[in-house]
Amino acid sequence: MNSIAVCFVCLGNICRSPSAEAVMRDLVERAKLSDRIVIDSAGTGNWHIGDPPDERAQRAAKKRSYDLSALRGRQVVVDDFARFDLIIAMDDANFTALTMLSPPEHRDKIRMLMEFATRDDSRVVVDPYFGGEEGFETVLDQCEDACEGLLKALRAQLIV
Ligand code: 4NP
Repeated sequence: MNSIAVCFVCLGNICRSPSAEAVMRDLVERAKLSDRIVIDSAGTGNWHIGDPPDERAQRAAKKRSYDLSALRGRQVVVDDFARFDLIIAMDDANFTALTMLSPPEHRDKIRMLMEFATRDDSRVVVDPYFGGEEGFETVLDQCEDACEGLLKALRAQLIV
């Protein structure tokens, strides 16, 4: 039985990528695939290492029954490119930062989250940090859409 490891990446690892991590974990648990799909998140920046997710992200997530409270910010490290099968960026700046950090042989593991969305045709998950509460709802809507598509794509790769 094979397994797949996925890491969601944004800038701070306190808003978008922990939200994606929680949404994906919920989908994977409900699909009874927790032992086959490893999920993590990280930030390209170092400002929020060790911090819990932004309170606005936690509040918005809680309304949809996702619990972000145990997550803590960490920064992407070069070893992540060997450890994970997919490194999934939220926006173009994350994608560029990951591409610059990645060993060349792992660069094809870097993808954009919204590639996997089927309802929302946005190319990126916009940073909600400097905006209002509604930005955090949009992030969750986008994560729910894209993570469903991602799970479908991963199922196709898992040999049962
Ligand atoms: P995230 O949001 O990348 O979705 O976690 C941000 C969090 C913090 C900052 C920027 C974006 N910041 O500038 O500290």
